[in-house]
Amino acid sequence: IESCIVGRFGREVEYHEVIDSTNIRARRLAEEGASSGTLVVSDCQSAGRGRRGRAWVSPSGKNIFMSLILRPDILPASASMITLVAALAVYDGIKDVTGLNAGIKWPNDIVANGKKLCGILTEMSAELEGIHYVVVGIGINVNMDEFPEEVRQTATSLLLETGEKVRRSRLVAAIMEAFEQYYEEFISQGDLSGLISVYNKHMVNTGKEVKILDRSGDYIGTALGINEKGELLVEVQPGEVRHVISGEVSVRGI
Ligand code: BTN
Repeated sequence: IESCIVGRFGREVEYHEVIDSTNIRARRLAEEGASSGTLVVSDCQSAGRGRRGRAWVSPSGKNIFMSLILRPDILPASASMITLVAALAVYDGIKDVTGLNAGIKWPNDIVANGKKLCGILTEMSAELEGIHYVVVGIGINVNMDEFPEEVRQTATSLLLETGEKVRRSRLVAAIMEAFEQYYEEFISQGDLSGLISVYNKHMVNTGKEVKILDRSGDYIGTALGINEKGELLVEVQPGEVRHVISGEVSVRGI
C-alpha cells in the first residue's frame, strides 16, 4: 500500500493479517499518540463492527477493512461531517479504479443498484473544548462473490457489480488521495460548503422521495440535498423544509 501512497494520508500504514477490528486498533494507536493520517488495514476482522452495534461481515482475502486516524482542529459538533467527506473519497476512489459510478446514500453508505458496497463508522474521542482524535473506519466489499444469507438482499461487492477483480492496494491508495484533498477543503472552510454540489451530485437520494424514521414520528418528503453542515434537507410540503441530522434518523428510499 505504502508504495502507492502519494500524500500524508496512509503514509504510515499498520497492516494486520487478522485483527478484532481496525477501529479498535486505530483508537488504541491514537491513544498512544499516533499521528494524523496513520492508517490501520487488516486482511480480515474477527469482530468487525458496523453502526448501531451490528456486526460487519469481514472474511479474509477479499475486502477492505481500514481505519484512518485524524486529529482535526475543529469542534466536536463538526466531526460528523468527516463521515460525509469520507463517503466522497470512497466514491471517487471506486470511480477512479473501477470506473463504476456508485452512489452515496446519505449520510455515508456507498451503494450500487440499491445495495450496499461500503459502510463507514466514525468514532471520536473529545471533550468540550476539542477533539483528541477521530477514527474513520471504512469497510468495502471488493472481491466477495457471495454473501451470507442475512445480508444477501442488501449487500453487493465491486466484483459483483463490475465483473472484475480489483487490486485492493490500488483502491486503498486512491481513496487516501481523494480523502486528503476533500479533507483539506473541509478543514479550510470549517464546514462542507465547498463540497455540497459534488456531494449532492453523487447522492442517490437527491430529488427523490424519502421516508425519515424519526423517534418523534416518521415522515415522508423530497430530499433536496445536503447543506453546509451535512444535514439532509427534506421538503415535507411546498415551502416547508426540515433539516435532518445524521445519526438521529434512518432514511429509506420509497
Ligand atoms: C456500517 O454499519 O455501515 C459501518 C460499517 C463499518 C465497517 C468498517 S470495516 C473497518 C472498520 N472496522 C470496524 O470494525 N468497522 C469499520
